[in-house]
Amino acid sequence: MVKLGLVGCGAIGGFLAKNIDKIDANIVAVYDRNLNKAEELAKIANAKVCKSLDELINEDIDIVVEAASIYIVKELCEKALKNGKDVIIMSVGALADKDLYIYLYNLAKKYKNKIYIPSGAIGGLDIIKSLKFGKIKKIVIKTIKNPKSFGLNIKERKILFEGSVFEAIKKFPANVNVSVTLSIAAKTPAKVYVIADPNIDKNRHEIEIEGDIANIKLVVENVPFEDNPRTSKLAAYSLLRLIKDLSEPIVIL
Ligand SMILES: NC(=O)c1ccc[n+]([C@@H]2O[C@H](COP(=O)([O-])OP(=O)(O)OC[C@H]3O[C@@H](n4cnc5c(N)ncnc54)[C@H](O)[C@@H]3O)[C@@H](O)[C@H]2O)c1
Repeated sequence: MVKLGLVGCGAIGGFLAKNIDKIDANIVAVYDRNLNKAEELAKIANAKVCKSLDELINEDIDIVVEAASIYIVKELCEKALKNGKDVIIMSVGALADKDLYIYLYNLAKKYKNKIYIPSGAIGGLDIIKSLKFGKIKKIVIKTIKNPKSFGLNIKERKILFEGSVFEAIKKFPANVNVSVTLSIAAKTPAKVYVIADPNIDKNRHEIEIEGDIANIKLVVENVPFEDNPRTSKLAAYSLLRLIKDLSEPIVIL
């Protein structure tokens, strides 16, 4: 049974708590800067509420699951890895900061722990990781969501952003995590489009990659969470699946 400490009790954290009985894992402790949310979720998961990140890290847990925000990733990973715990990061956008990526890479290596990144709201990362043995000539991701996901109320489809993954995550820290996952998997910075479209009710990601080993065209149309339309249910399922895989004897990667 994998013992988890959960940081962030919002859409993804809540989903994990409600579905934890589907896998061989337990949520032992939870922490959220919003105490009410932590208490609510702790009841569902029968977990202990921690008042600080430090308190959670010191609990008897194997893995710290981050489902909070890109701004907590550095501190959380530092504290968890130094305490001999593995980490799962949902707010992967934090790793668009190359210095932070290298720092955490070396820290995980030093303490012989792992940082896991779920596939999130996209797929095809298995192919993309293989493609990086060859040349990747083009890597583009278009993220198209209903304007309400961006806090907008517009009637026409509008390109909100076109540019590098590094700029994209700065401008949309809670909407384009997948473009960072994609770029890390490909070891190549993706070109990102962020589009608001009032005519769609799904979170749509269109991925196009050209390489000398294979080309990929992939479209994922995600059902968003009702209480947080920025986040796709698939992202939460990918977390559940990753935790399940960790204790499976045979794993497809
Ligand atoms: N990798 C992916 O594909 C993917 C997909 C969707 C969301 N995400 C990311 O995962 C994270 C969680 O998503 P969500 O939809 O559950 O968000 P959410 O906003 O529904 O919940 C986040 C929770 O974390 C808490 N929180 C935020 N900052 C905190 C901090 N510094 N310390 C303690 N608690 C903090 C909030 O109070 C909230 O309860 C977000 O960063 C989101 O951008 C990643």
